[in-house]
Order: sequence, then C-alpha cells, then structure tokens
Amino acid sequence: MKKFAVFASGNGSNFEAIVTRLKEENWDAEVSLLVCDNLEAKVLERAEAFSIPSFAFQPKSYENKPAFERAIIEQLRLHEVELIVLAGYMRLIGDTLLKAYGGKIINIHPSLLPAFPGIDAVGKAYRAGVKVAGITVHYVDEGMDTGPIIAQKAVEIGEGDTLETIEQHIHELEHKHYPSVIKELLGLNSRGEKQ
Ligand code: GRF
Repeated sequence: MKKFAVFASGNGSNFEAIVTRLKEENWDAEVSLLVCDNLEAKVLERAEAFSIPSFAFQPKSYENKPAFERAIIEQLRLHEVELIVLAGYMRLIGDTLLKAYGGKIINIHPSLLPAFPGIDAVGKAYRAGVKVAGITVHYVDEGMDTGPIIAQKAVEIGEGDTLETIEQHIHELEHKHYPSVIKELLGLNSRGEKQ
C-alpha cells in the first residue's frame, strides 16, 4: 500500500477530490497524513470526516522554518509517506523539507505556468484577458511555482465567462486531473493497482 501526504492551508476541495477518487477506485494507496499550517482550516474537518490523521501546526509557535519543517518530517516518517502532494498549501517549501523529500514533492497551480505564478493566479489571468486558462501540476523546487512541469490542462474562456465561472472551470479541472496525475506517479495502473 503506497502512502502519501497532502499539504493544505484552507478549504481543501482538492484534498477531498483526491481522497474521494482514491476510495471510489479502490486504489492500492492511502493518504496517511494531512499536513496543515492553519488551525482554522476547513480541510481539517474534511480529514476528520475521512478519519485521516492530520498534523496541524502554527508556524508562529516555532523558532523558524527549519524547526517546523523538522517537525513535519518527523510526522511524515511516522506515517511512512513516499510522496508529498501540495494542494493549496500557501507556503514555500524550505531547504529542510526539500533535502529530505527532494523530487518527491508535487504541487498544483491554477494557471498554465510559467504564466501567472504566485497568489491570485486566476484573477491575474482574468484581468489579463486571456482566452485560454488552465492548471499545472509540477515538481516543487525552491522557487515559487517553478520546478519541472508534469502535466497541464487548458480551458477556453468564452465571452460570457466571469471571474467566478473561470474559477469554477479551474476547480473542475483540478479535481478531475490532479488525482489522475497522483495515481500515475504512485505507479498505480488504471484500476488503481500497484504495477
Ligand atoms: C487550488 O486552486 C490550487 O490550485 C491552489 O490552491 C487552491 C486550493 O483550493 N494551489 P482547495 O483548498 O483545494 O479548495
């Protein structure tokens, strides 16, 4: 059974989509840990509803980033995590975590990178008047939404689209495709079995 962790800071709709797909398709894998840097986040309730263990912490209560990343690593080891899936984790991954899990951390970003990195990517794309928006799944390095691209999906923006409808299209793309990319990276076949 492959074990992976999801890191999230807020709502957690991607977390929910990933766990739901994994269960529906009976993957030979599990989310063994949710890591969350916001004690008020809705994603914590979602994890509890699925009985998934979570490590929720307050960055402020640690001396610095290496200190809280060491605490995260301890939890990741305890839960035998092989892959880290960032899904709305609003924090740059630091050296400590990168050294321990380099090449095993992926992120989803709501734009066609390298366009519109950073926060409010959908708003930036909307205000730029793009005709095609989309999502990117990529490996994480020390930069902000940099790192080798694994997969991208695009959606056309129509005349009648508003910021809200574009956000909705983007979320639909994320919920559909992120689980598929994770499944492939875990080395599971289309039936969710280990190959
Ligand atoms: C997603 O749009 C993701 O691309 C970005 O943060 C958002 C998280 O949404 N990195 P949710 O918390 O999964 O609903």
